[in-house]
Amino acid sequence: MIMDDLETLGQRLLAEVGNAENLKALETTRVGALGKKGILTTRMKAIGAMDASLRRDAGAALNRLKSELAAAIEARAEDLRGAALDAQLRSERIDVTLPARRAPTGRVHPVSQVFDEIVAIFANMGFKVAEGPDIEDDFHNFTALNIPPEHPARQDHDTFYLRAPQGQARQLLRTHTSPVQVRTMKSQPPPVRIIAPGRTYRRDSDMTHTPMFHQVEGLVVDQTTHMGHLKGCLQDFVSAFFEVEVPVRFRPSYFPFTSPSAEMDIGCKRSRGSLTIGAGDDWLEILGCGMVHPNVLGHCGIDSERYQGFAFGVGIDRIAMLKYGIPDLRSFFDADLRWLRHYGFAALDVPTLHAGLAR
Ligand code: PHE
Repeated sequence: MIMDDLETLGQRLLAEVGNAENLKALETTRVGALGKKGILTTRMKAIGAMDASLRRDAGAALNRLKSELAAAIEARAEDLRGAALDAQLRSERIDVTLPARRAPTGRVHPVSQVFDEIVAIFANMGFKVAEGPDIEDDFHNFTALNIPPEHPARQDHDTFYLRAPQGQARQLLRTHTSPVQVRTMKSQPPPVRIIAPGRTYRRDSDMTHTPMFHQVEGLVVDQTTHMGHLKGCLQDFVSAFFEVEVPVRFRPSYFPFTSPSAEMDIGCKRSRGSLTIGAGDDWLEILGCGMVHPNVLGHCGIDSERYQGFAFGVGIDRIAMLKYGIPDLRSFFDADLRWLRHYGFAALDVPTLHAGLAR
């Protein structure tokens, strides 16, 4: 074997290694040179047949080339692996600072917001949410609530009646959420602790009344329930809802389904056309309440000798206007997108007591 030839071969193989574009090409070069049938392996085998005087030098030179080539292959492989990793990282790159999804553009209506706030407050006091139908019958809306036929209180509710199908009793759009009290007491034994938010209807339309409006009913029935619970519960509610200390005052009133009955006023301040809720020298009526009338418990199959309850009903639209400074009730129902963008709430900001009711 001629040494010059070996040198040329070495240069060719090293150049091939240096030019290998990927690991696969490099492996082909490696097998071609150092594999079982590789060119250097074959030459190594041929050394045995050489003249003894040449054998040593030729063997040493071949071994040098073999290890030089092996080192070059390893170095090139290292480079190629690094480059492959870089390319993969570049192609899989994500910008973790990008927002996961676009902020929703829809807004939550103030009435829905206030419902959610009230549910958050009462859930914290252990109340459950109950529901009833908007279309009611006479029994649930009136009779069971101690308002028998011909009772004058029926005239206070300007009721929408539905046309009765032949031979059936006429139905009506519920005039308050109080029928949900009846449905709840009839369907579960005491103790009861529920609120019932929903739509209510009366034939009434002017600056401060709309034919459809919203109420939240509250009902607690237990063996030891008394007027003090009613007062404490409602006091806590208004302070949590308005997010300030709110003084309250109870005035005697009349509802057929509660006895005694009261209206609750909250303290406020009026000056030059603006109204501030909280301590002040003025009062604002916000809800009706009282101890559930024994006749109502009786209509619902609850022993009024053993059980007592309190109930209240709040107009949602009005307390939403008060809390959020909305001047006109009718704007609630105009479905005006500009109004909703202004007065609405971010869809993902669910009100909770720990994170804040309204943000
Ligand atoms: N249902 C009454 C109304 O609509 C409010 C109320 C509810 C009063 C419960 C007392 C107890 O005016």
